[in-house]
Amino acid sequence: MKKIGIFASGTGTNFEALASSDQIKSLANIKIMVCDKTGAKVIKRAEDKNIKTFVFNPKDYANKLAYEKEILEKVKDLDYIFLAGYMRILSKDFLEKYKGKVVNIHPSLLPKYKGIESIKRAYEAGEEYIGVTIHYVNEEIDGGEILAQDKFKVDYNKSLDEVEGQVHDLEHRLYIKTAAEILKGEK
Ligand code: GRF
Repeated sequence: MKKIGIFASGTGTNFEALASSDQIKSLANIKIMVCDKTGAKVIKRAEDKNIKTFVFNPKDYANKLAYEKEILEKVKDLDYIFLAGYMRILSKDFLEKYKGKVVNIHPSLLPKYKGIESIKRAYEAGEEYIGVTIHYVNEEIDGGEILAQDKFKVDYNKSLDEVEGQVHDLEHRLYIKTAAEILKGEK
């Protein structure tokens, strides 16, 4: 069994997808869910699954180095860290320690639409296809080697909300599939 951690900041539907997947459960133990937002919905999701959590408020620390030091103590010896809507940039030092072991999901066909509001921007630009990317994390925002992408043709009769829903469904499927491949050593 591999040992993994999931980092999240918000609603946690991707966390939920990974943590509920029988395939993922057969390959890895989720040792910890790390969250930088007190009160985020993802915290209850982890607690309901009896997954250990580390919730911190960055404002309680002098700087990034200080809170990452504490995170690193909590995430000792993990095989992989999956970011699932974690809204903070990991430092160079952190990424050095977990080189090639931190994976992120982003709701766009990278390298297009890096950063926030990616789905809205792609929708408003009238993109024919909208999709999802899973990639290794490096120091560049939404950079790093691409591991998997999937997309669908946008039906502009659908509202932005509906298209966002489609993207999130696709995210959950692709994250489970790709995480399983990584855990099996196939990626
Ligand atoms: C997802 O769209 C993910 O791709 C992005 O942040 C969002 C998190 O959603 N990085 P959730 O918290 O997993 O529901």
